[in-house]
Amino acid sequence: MRIDPWSSQQYADYARLREHFGIAPFTQASELPDPIPLLERGVVFGQRGFDRITRAVQRHEPWALLTGLMPSGPMHVGHKMLIDQITYWQKLGAEVFIAIADIEAYATRGFSLAKARQVALDHYVTNYLALGLDPQRCQIYFQSQRQPVKDLAWQLGKKVTWSTMEGIYGFTGATNLGHVQAPLVQVGDILHVQQPKYGGPRPTLVPVGVDQDPHLRLTRDLAEAFRVFSIQPVEKGKDSPGGLGIFLKTEAKALPQLAERLAPERPEFAKALAKHDEGERDVAIGTALLKLAKHQLKVVGFGEFHENFAYRALYLPAAGGDDVPVVDAALAALEQQALGEPGFLLPSSTYHRFMSGLTGDKMSSSRPETSIYLTEEPEAARKKVMAAKTGGRPTAEEQRRLGGEWDKCVVAELYLYHLAPDASDLKEKYDACVTGARLCGPCKGIAADRTVAFLQEHAERRKQVGPAELRAFVRED
Ligand code: TRP
Repeated sequence: MRIDPWSSQQYADYARLREHFGIAPFTQASELPDPIPLLERGVVFGQRGFDRITRAVQRHEPWALLTGLMPSGPMHVGHKMLIDQITYWQKLGAEVFIAIADIEAYATRGFSLAKARQVALDHYVTNYLALGLDPQRCQIYFQSQRQPVKDLAWQLGKKVTWSTMEGIYGFTGATNLGHVQAPLVQVGDILHVQQPKYGGPRPTLVPVGVDQDPHLRLTRDLAEAFRVFSIQPVEKGKDSPGGLGIFLKTEAKALPQLAERLAPERPEFAKALAKHDEGERDVAIGTALLKLAKHQLKVVGFGEFHENFAYRALYLPAAGGDDVPVVDAALAALEQQALGEPGFLLPSSTYHRFMSGLTGDKMSSSRPETSIYLTEEPEAARKKVMAAKTGGRPTAEEQRRLGGEWDKCVVAELYLYHLAPDASDLKEKYDACVTGARLCGPCKGIAADRTVAFLQEHAERRKQVGPAELRAFVRED
């Protein structure tokens, strides 16, 4: 089983996807203030590492959100789902970054950068503003114009092998290198927000459709691979006092280089490098690194330590699992600031399902009969909704007797994803359907009226987004 982010695969069984790829279920809606329906209704169905975000929200600690979009054509209501999530997270305190994937559109869709830029400004950015994203705490940027993102793609590529790319994406000898590079640029997108210039190491949420999970697996693996220290809860034992263990994970062969970089400023590294015996030298370098870690942890308030430097370990006997985020963030900051290493926390992610197209197969920008565009003429949208595939029975008599098939109905999805504002409204639509009390015509009529009202309002709000707002929103660096 493999997810291909560039295909137009339709996913049928989300639970199976989750299990196969080790995605955790998303169950945290009730821990969040005023969760939006998408989070409560299982549309956002999976996550990786989400507890970091809950924790940051609850403690009012800084956190970032990064997501991206490929500017491939006009946006449809399926895309709105992501915007609704972003505006919600922004209200909860996320500092928002949005990547416009012009390099990816060039590499995988054959768009010129200029065309990608135009589509992004006319459609995506305007819609984002019209749907309520606050430009004050948000930056939108183009991949091709943000040098640190591209630099990271090169730098992190150092720990990616061809077998990894083959394994994750199914690339072959015929895949062009622009395409191979695109996921690394995306890794750069996700991680650059933790660089000092963009706010330093902090929890980062990446809300995406589940087709993007391969990129998150790659990103999380790379963030981990470039860490100097790993932090793990440990059992009490012969060599370990229990609590949290901090282990030096940099490979031995990379230690001398790291030490050389630090030696001019820190004599302990120069001294270590002067040792003739390689084993002793590496232990001395490791010891110096772990002492820096110890110092850093004292600064953030830890007082009790147990050293086992020969074992490349430092322990916090009194600390526990709850302290992991604090220790992790403190050490990532040390890695960035004192050691000049990437020092990224693992990003967290959430995954949403995809809405079906109106015809029952995938909703796609390039097939108008499947989509309702955000810029669609309202009465044209009404016709599409009235013609949508439903879970209706062959005859009205049968439907009154057996009820409609809600689970097979695209209009039901419209209510679920967008048109039912609260649980009781959704339940009313569901009950009326499955009991046969309301037939498909009237049900579609309600959905069509709501779609028309939304599109009219959205068109008004789009008019208020002028060129000045657009420019202020999009960062050129
Ligand atoms: N690959 C994403 C898409 O096809 C776009 C994207 C680029 C992205 N960079 C990102 C998504 C970073 C999430 C995070 O739509």
